[in-house]
Amino acid sequence: MYDFDASITRTARDSVKWEAYTTTREIPLWVADMDFMSAPVIQEALISCVSSDVLGYANLSKDYRDALKDWFERYHNYSPSPQSLVVVDGVVQGIAVALEALTQEGDAVLIQTPVYHPFAKTITGLKRQLVTNPLHYENQRYTMDLCHFEEAIIHNQVRAFILCSPHNPVGRVWTKDELLALSAICLKHNVIIIADEIHHDFIMGNQAHTVLSTLSPEIAQQTILCTAPSKSFNLAGLKIANLFIENPQYRARFKNVLQRYHISGSNTLALKACEAAYTQGRPWFDELLAYLKSNIRYVEEYLALHCPQIQVIPTEATYLMWLDFSQLDLSGEGLDLWLRQEAKLWLNNGIIFGEDGKNFGRMNIATQRSTLELAMTQLSEALRRRLHD
Ligand SMILES: Cc1ncc(COP(=O)(O)O)c(C=O)c1O
Repeated sequence: MYDFDASITRTARDSVKWEAYTTTREIPLWVADMDFMSAPVIQEALISCVSSDVLGYANLSKDYRDALKDWFERYHNYSPSPQSLVVVDGVVQGIAVALEALTQEGDAVLIQTPVYHPFAKTITGLKRQLVTNPLHYENQRYTMDLCHFEEAIIHNQVRAFILCSPHNPVGRVWTKDELLALSAICLKHNVIIIADEIHHDFIMGNQAHTVLSTLSPEIAQQTILCTAPSKSFNLAGLKIANLFIENPQYRARFKNVLQRYHISGSNTLALKACEAAYTQGRPWFDELLAYLKSNIRYVEEYLALHCPQIQVIPTEATYLMWLDFSQLDLSGEGLDLWLRQEAKLWLNNGIIFGEDGKNFGRMNIATQRSTLELAMTQLSEALRRRLHD
């Protein structure tokens, strides 16, 4: 019913992703937004709001709260308490505020690399000590090294941990058992968990995503749960995130920091878009998900056939594929240059997610199939030249 193949020109629209394309001609498959128009129900809600509403300061309406409650109960088996909701302008902003509110300068904060790069920047930017627990990589699969996780917590007196679930960029859906084991360690050592679950709707296989706060009331009390409609409905430019902070002390401290910076109220249009998405957007999202899954299958099959030297890490979640280029003897800057100059592709260079990502590239497949086909042709031709010249 929805046409995700419809071509769309983003170069003239101030798009971060496409801005360089006019000069470089490198197909942009990097930053995590999608080359698709918003769901028609969202467009209609925005048009109706602009044409009939006053765009003054907005409160969170009962309809908005109900829409969230319904989405999380229906699709995530999670019933947040009404008072836990805190709306901010973005997940990364929420993480920064949580760190400022709940940790002190010099406190150690843990992440598991390779991971979404603004985590590390936010931690060091706020003068917290960055501690990493690299994920374990074997046979194209990532797992958590929980022994090292606990050792790192004890050794550095870690105060907070930023969980990425599902995990960008390695595409893992963490199992309930993994999350239980990890949370038990955090509870034991009183580590606050900031759970970034922004990619929660993009589950590509049969594994279920587990909302961390559903594991137990104790874990919910220890967790700052960060969600947003921005990935699922391609609304990143509207700047909105819904955080659920069940612990009243943490919530009060979080809100104090918001007040300090006068971060108050929310973007009227973002609220309308989120409400429309969560009440009427599911049919659009279901078709989108099917389209993205078929894009992932297409890339997997294409690379297996034409570029077997490039290993594809299974994409259990997200629309970001994690590709292992180590067999090409390319890494870091060299890999990026080769992709850009020879294949004319702009992927996220794996090294930005941590040193352990240096042989990898992260490829955003949320685009028209025709764009991906062109990208795959360019990649296989560049590879053929590299192997045969
Ligand atoms: C794991 C993760 N968290 C947060 C964000 C950004 O969220 P926001 O724009 O709401 O700050 C992204 C965007 O790619 C992401 O992948």
